[in-house]
Amino acid sequence: MNSIPLTNIPVTADVAALSPRYSAEERQLTIERIKQLFKEQDAVLVAHYYTDSDLQMIAEETGGFVSDSLDMARFGNEHPSTTLVVAGVRFMGETAKILNPEKRVLMPDLAATCSLDIGCPAPAFKEFCDSHPDRTVVVYANTSTEVKALSDWVVTSAIALEVVKHLKEKGEKVLWAPDRHLGRYIQMQTGADMVSWQGDCVVHDEFRGQLLQSLLKKHPDAAVLAHPESPEKVIALADVVGSTSQLIKAARELPHRKFIVATDRGIFYKMKQAAPDKTFIESPTAGVDATCTSCAHCPWMAMNGLHNLKRVLETGENEIFVDEALRVKALRATQRMMDFARNRTIKVLGHSNA
Ligand code: 13P
Ligand code: SF4
Repeated sequence: MNSIPLTNIPVTADVAALSPRYSAEERQLTIERIKQLFKEQDAVLVAHYYTDSDLQMIAEETGGFVSDSLDMARFGNEHPSTTLVVAGVRFMGETAKILNPEKRVLMPDLAATCSLDIGCPAPAFKEFCDSHPDRTVVVYANTSTEVKALSDWVVTSAIALEVVKHLKEKGEKVLWAPDRHLGRYIQMQTGADMVSWQGDCVVHDEFRGQLLQSLLKKHPDAAVLAHPESPEKVIALADVVGSTSQLIKAARELPHRKFIVATDRGIFYKMKQAAPDKTFIESPTAGVDATCTSCAHCPWMAMNGLHNLKRVLETGENEIFVDEALRVKALRATQRMMDFARNRTIKVLGHSNA
């Protein structure tokens, strides 16, 4: 058994309803106050594409960065600020701390986790690793520091394929965790000998291949862009599969005028900026026979807002701390990814049928 049943997953709409509703004037004052606090505190904002568009806008207007999880880690590692504010989910803040122990790392909400992280607790994962001692352990960045500390490699969706190809060329067998869809996609693309943990992302797992097929009949000129955490039937219909940054790049560079996008809808803010004259359509989720709890928006990413970004800067609360012995162990596998990314030109698109 290597999948942990998930309980108490927050419903995105309920999470979003908890954010204060600002008037236009309150919103503007809050944004200005946040910008001033960044300057006063030598702080920089590193945000993920799935977070609120106001946070993405502030990151860009204050010298911060909005990107996929690999480039969030790279930016935080290279930026000289003494405080990193990470708007995203817990593993992104922990990765920043693993790589930058001397920096103060703050997050708007420490409860912002990830179903992949919850579904792969370290004790059960250790048993899984112990039952496959001959395999190289490769884990997705969407895991706890404890799980990273048990691993040989950490990877993100931008680099997973390249790393496993590299290991296969060296004749290594792979133990993969935790996302089963990404694991299957990598296995099919590389032909590597892999065993996989059976976790999934509650957002991407809700995309439905059959409904996508029907939608494509209505929009035969559209290209499909899919994150590799999506189910097999969705991936099979995709023109491009890749990390969030890779999907945005594809939206900008492909000749298509219309895209159906199978990932969190927070990405539309940046996609529309990247290709303002193109049309973006959400890939369909769930269906009549299923409940749609996230409806293409991650409930934990939705926990990041203007109100709690301002609060952490004012109070210094929500600092990330990682046990030093554990950090050193997790750094080994995480640094390997950073070095690999530096030394390789990562293929721009995961795969492309376009
Ligand atoms: P990216 O690294 O592609 O941004 O993915 C992170 C993530 O959590 C996707 O759900
Ligand atoms: Fe985790 Fe999925 Fe949310 Fe990404 S979208 S942080 S994989 S739950």
